[in-house]
Amino acid sequence: MSVLIINGPNLNLLGTREPEIYGATTLAEIKSKCLKILQNANLKADFFQSNAEHEIVDQIQAARTNQVSYIIINPAAFTHTSVAIRDAIAAVGIPFIEIHLSNPHSREPFRQHSYFSDLAEGIIAGFGEESYAMACEAVIKKLTH
Ligand code: DQA
Repeated sequence: MSVLIINGPNLNLLGTREPEIYGATTLAEIKSKCLKILQNANLKADFFQSNAEHEIVDQIQAARTNQVSYIIINPAAFTHTSVAIRDAIAAVGIPFIEIHLSNPHSREPFRQHSYFSDLAEGIIAGFGEESYAMACEAVIKKLTH
């Protein structure tokens, strides 16, 4: 069974991007932690980041062909804007967890609507890099228990 972790725009800048909001950990560090957690549970794992909406749509479409069992997605700013990514994830029908480093509900009003939350199996937000680790653990429970 395999898990795909998808990251949206500007998450490639983690470590230097508004560290008071997003923390000092880089995306590369988050990636290696997630892959370790999932691989230790004998799950295959891929980690993807793009600043381009269509590349994320393409990854989600490919996930069905590649028989991905579960998706963890931090859509970043696309959380609040992207009908295209929402439609892709609805189309493939792969269960997913929506995650955020920050808690968008405690921030600006425009961050308080998500195009993903009503389709997600669950949402984890506000725990910094731990949001990723917690989502990995939740997926392990879903897929292996
Ligand atoms: C984010 C929250 C979004 O509102 C924002 O646009 C991001 C990151 C988070 O992880 O806290 O880029 O998804």
